[in-house]
Amino acid sequence: MKLMVIGGGGREHAVIRKLKENPKVSCIYALPGNGGMKGDAVCVPIGAKDIPEIVEFAVREGVDYAVVTPDDPLVLGCVDALEAAGIPCFGPRSEAAIIEGSKIFAKQLMKKYGIPTARFESFDSCADALEYLKTAPLPTVVKADGLALGKGVIIAQTREEAEAAVKEMMEGGKFGKSGERVVIEEFLEGPEVSVLAFTDGKALVPMVSSMDHKRAGDGDTGLNTGGMGTVAPNPYYTDAVAERCMKEIFLPTMAAMNAEGRKFKGCLYFGLMITKDGPKVIEYNCRFGDPETQVVLPLLESDLLEVMLAVTEERLADTEVKFSDKYACCVILASKGYPGKYEKGFPLMIPDAVRDKVYVAGAALKFGNLVTNGGRVAGCTAVGDTLSEAIGKAYAVAEQVRFDNSFCRSDIGRRALQALKDV
Ligand code: AMP
Ligand code: GLY
Repeated sequence: MKLMVIGGGGREHAVIRKLKENPKVSCIYALPGNGGMKGDAVCVPIGAKDIPEIVEFAVREGVDYAVVTPDDPLVLGCVDALEAAGIPCFGPRSEAAIIEGSKIFAKQLMKKYGIPTARFESFDSCADALEYLKTAPLPTVVKADGLALGKGVIIAQTREEAEAAVKEMMEGGKFGKSGERVVIEEFLEGPEVSVLAFTDGKALVPMVSSMDHKRAGDGDTGLNTGGMGTVAPNPYYTDAVAERCMKEIFLPTMAAMNAEGRKFKGCLYFGLMITKDGPKVIEYNCRFGDPETQVVLPLLESDLLEVMLAVTEERLADTEVKFSDKYACCVILASKGYPGKYEKGFPLMIPDAVRDKVYVAGAALKFGNLVTNGGRVAGCTAVGDTLSEAIGKAYAVAEQVRFDNSFCRSDIGRRALQALKDV
């Protein structure tokens, strides 16, 4: 089988490595992929948002199955276009990807179907939003409606900060069209849990839970990033919490999307907060998380391609999806300065001994040599029988991956370890 994976980050590298395990796979194209995927995929220089070019390539090369991973092409209708050309896909159509593409849609869906989430108001007029802020409880959370590279959320401690965020988004055009409408919502407290789930609209199978580390600095300080590391499973996601999530959040979300005529097929990402009043949805994503995928897929014992095909063909209920009961940790090596300005183009050294434990996110080939080419450069991942073993092994891998100006957090998994002791 000839496969095609759309995207070019560490998450896509993890998906490709797992898909490769299936003996039926003869070739995997990555569009655009990145230089660090050499040996795992054939990288094709077509951007993840260039939908007509993607379709043309897939038809020309006789691609049998496509996996569309990033949010932008999903929201823009990449799956719809590929299906129209006769190519089966893993990933939601655009009518269902809206669950991530519009926060207002997601919030209204949860309100209509009684799915627990933070209380909110939505606004398409800046004056109305500012008026509301005069009496909103603090801290308050301001969110751009559309996609904003994970940067469209401001937690405002003061009224002035909240007003500035609203003005920047709605008048200053900070996120373009994505910020023309905003959600202002209640600030929730509690540990966060990420749960990815396979769903074909008929059945929903949660994967092993994980914990992201979004801030750039140790101790959860510094700017928000795309994610500086992950561990799985997440100790806050106990069996009792999992049971409530399934009953109060996961299955009701699947049913709500069906009732709206927007059947969701693919990987649905639940960003949850375990509050003292129970689990609540912080956000939905219409795709695998990055870097959650880098810890979840190494624990998947079932064949990923078979599970994905079962989702596409709507026979997930009859398909086994099995995870090991081990632990995984992913430490992201990033370019100094990320998520702000950073330099790239430094030689990137990944010794052969650890190659299979490194998912490359931001790298390019220059005259045949690997160089850094992004903020997040490499996800160093390991599996262990205990969480502390997985963390120790992941940091040992990270020590061997070298490039100038690299940095990583030194405390990935520390909070999870503490929580395990507390439970
Ligand atoms: P998002 O991009 O929606 O995942 O939001 C980024 C981060 O902001 C989340 O991971 C949370 O840590 C935080 N956040 C978002 N919404 C809320 C909320 N209502 N209350 C507290 N924290 C929030
Ligand atoms: N790691 C968070 C996300 O993928 O959105």
